[in-house]
Amino acid sequence: METQALTASFTVIPNRHPASDEERWLAMENPVFGKVFTDHMARATWRDGEGWADHRIVALAPLPMHPGAAVLHYAQQAFEGLKAYRHEDGSVWLFRPEANAARLAASCRRMALPEVSEQDFMAALEGLIAADRNWVPGTPGASLYLRPFVFASEPSLLVQPAHEVEFLVTASPVGAYLSAGDTGVPIWVSRGYHRANPGGTGEAKTAGNYAASMLPQQEAKEHGCQQVLFLDAKEDTYVEEFGGMNLVAVRADGSIVTPRLSGTILPGITRDSILTLLRDEGRNVEERDLALTEILEGVESGEIVELFACGTAAVVTPVGRLASEDFDVTVPRVEGESVADAVLARLTDLQYGRAEDPHGWMRKVLDAPEG
Ligand SMILES: Cc1ncc(COP(=O)(O)O)c(C=O)c1O
Repeated sequence: METQALTASFTVIPNRHPASDEERWLAMENPVFGKVFTDHMARATWRDGEGWADHRIVALAPLPMHPGAAVLHYAQQAFEGLKAYRHEDGSVWLFRPEANAARLAASCRRMALPEVSEQDFMAALEGLIAADRNWVPGTPGASLYLRPFVFASEPSLLVQPAHEVEFLVTASPVGAYLSAGDTGVPIWVSRGYHRANPGGTGEAKTAGNYAASMLPQQEAKEHGCQQVLFLDAKEDTYVEEFGGMNLVAVRADGSIVTPRLSGTILPGITRDSILTLLRDEGRNVEERDLALTEILEGVESGEIVELFACGTAAVVTPVGRLASEDFDVTVPRVEGESVADAVLARLTDLQYGRAEDPHGWMRKVLDAPEG
């Protein structure tokens, strides 16, 4: 697909009716994940033969859309999720945004959508964060969740790549995503449903993958579980990932095992960062096929001492229970500090500027306020 970069930076047309200070404070007090939106959004439009144009930061508003817009019928869409963190001095930072830009470009290629360049991705984020600087929380564990997305807006019922495409970014103040409590999150292992097939769209971040995960997610809820874990579609044997997070296992000898990026798993940026931090500690990290039976037997025998989910939204969340139609296994909490606790602290210390950033992952987008 032809790629034409958005070269100009985004023009800002301020929201003339932003939330009042009081409305904003109330909205930010205890936001439900992804339910509160800031005053602005970034937006650009692509037309075949013309490329990207009209890049702007405007008031957040509903999108007038033709009922024939291709995305509504064929889900030609790709998206991202990343967070902006406020440091103690008031400055605002992104964590590895160029990795999200690269993954969005890869997802766009898979979905036959025009790519958004890294430069334009960054310009949209920086423009939006600057316009909504007061919406970046300063409370511990909170952040501004950014949702870049690209979709086919062309009114057309033909099954073909759209000639008109929109790129948008919205922003939402967020707190914690999953509540792990003291016992960890209960997980339902889906037997009847798969998330992705070889050659399908599993490694793209695209709407249809999530639509397909909702029924199994509902099944998980009906069994008292918070999240669903999928097995591979080909052999129905190997664990792949959760509906919206990657999985990591810790063995009794301190080594780490996680499913390899097989083409049907989303290459999580949190996953990659955590594996890097764990390798920095000198741990042995294996990325390979990981059978469900290896996990169940490992938990049973004590060979596997921890399981955790990782992703931008959930950060690092311990798994407390694995259940399905034919098993129900409790993952005991480790005594003292777990690997999940330690790596969560290392990662969040880095993200919130409380620790050094040896890998140069943080990118400053707003300076500390003067005075
Ligand atoms: C299916 C899936 N797997 C894994 C992840 C974790 O990816 P990341 O760490 O980049 O947020 C996500 C979240 O984006 C996801 O939706």
